[in-house]
Amino acid sequence: MTNLLKNKRIILGVTGSIACYKSADLASKLHQAGAQVDVILTRAAANFITSLTFQSVTGRRAYSEADLWGAEGHVLHIGLGKDADLLVIAPVTANTMAKLAHGQADNLLTLAVLAAECPLLLAPAMDGGMFKHAATQANLETLRERGAIIVGPASGHLASGMEAIGRMLEPQELLGHIRLALGRGGPLQGRRVVVTAGGAQEAIDPVRYIANRSSGKQGFALAQTALDLGADVTLISAPTHLETPVGAQRMDVRSTGEMLAAVLDASQKADVLLMAAAAADFQPVETAENKIKKAQGILEVKLEETRDILVEVSKRKTKNGYPRVVVGFAAESQNLIENAEKKLKSKQLDIIAANDISAADAGFAVDTNRITLLHASGEKEELPLMSKDEVAGVVLERVIKLLD
Ligand code: CTP
Repeated sequence: MTNLLKNKRIILGVTGSIACYKSADLASKLHQAGAQVDVILTRAAANFITSLTFQSVTGRRAYSEADLWGAEGHVLHIGLGKDADLLVIAPVTANTMAKLAHGQADNLLTLAVLAAECPLLLAPAMDGGMFKHAATQANLETLRERGAIIVGPASGHLASGMEAIGRMLEPQELLGHIRLALGRGGPLQGRRVVVTAGGAQEAIDPVRYIANRSSGKQGFALAQTALDLGADVTLISAPTHLETPVGAQRMDVRSTGEMLAAVLDASQKADVLLMAAAAADFQPVETAENKIKKAQGILEVKLEETRDILVEVSKRKTKNGYPRVVVGFAAESQNLIENAEKKLKSKQLDIIAANDISAADAGFAVDTNRITLLHASGEKEELPLMSKDEVAGVVLERVIKLLD
């Protein structure tokens, strides 16, 4: 369940724009993620980049215009699109979009598009003026109405030297859109999932704060996995350098108080709350308005307890039933099960993921976790050492069972 791209059949069409140098990176990323990528180059694309480039990064034959007239040509255009999970054209030029909008099929790629039954994702790249042209806009509209997913273009530096709208999205972002497209109709389709991530920061003064070592990685992995499964995801994140998964609605918070307000707001009608953030247990009683100076002498910071977000959530859940499934996370360095069991009960959770952070390969900043899942039903599941992505997959699998 965790690897959405594994064994997916993706046709990657590449048309004649300088942005096709980025397509090689996209093809490579898709291949590395486990997808089977069949590339089709148009004649114009072949002026910028070769089939060999794509063959080298996908490990599969890449097709060019000459193949249409080869021995297998009569079946190739139908065969390529058949059984494909997604047809991506990146970059797609204004010219190819015009052809697609009118159902033209004058080369291997446009023939394959007409024959394919899978969703179509287009990543336009062109000069700003061409993009704005009424004809291009009308074609885009036609394609959108027909169900094509159009991503970008972005604003920025163009080959013409101008700063304008027309840049193809970057491969990493395209990969996010591809995941989103493949995840449509998944088991969490139509479900609202709220995820919290990262470590809260409690301000002492305008420059200093009390923080913890949470990286946000587990929360972001949960958000990405929920998106892969088709969910509508709100990601409430404390400060982190991690990239927002494409498709997630991100709310940035700093303190536990801000996180509490955001969680209560976002989870009002949510199906699921995954509370992976490390909220702070204590906050300074007072936050100094101005920077505290050394000359003021030795500093004593008086702390008070923060409000427990999950306790507040469960109070509301008791009243109106939302969020329907609540999962907590407990990072423990001793008495793992005993402590986690207490939290499961006192916070009235459906599941708590207890993480043994005393192990070097689990916990903060590393990519793996050692988790035991404790269920409200009393069931206990000790999971082997897993990547945070895999943990996210297992947690969401259990959540889906509870929702059903
Ligand atoms: N949590 C919360 N609100 C807080 C503190 C924690 O909602 N103010 C949530 C965390 O996001 C996590 C779960 O409660 O999902 C367990 O957090 P943890 O820090 O392990 O538990 P605490 O209740 O804070 O207990 P302690 O720090 O004493 O272990």
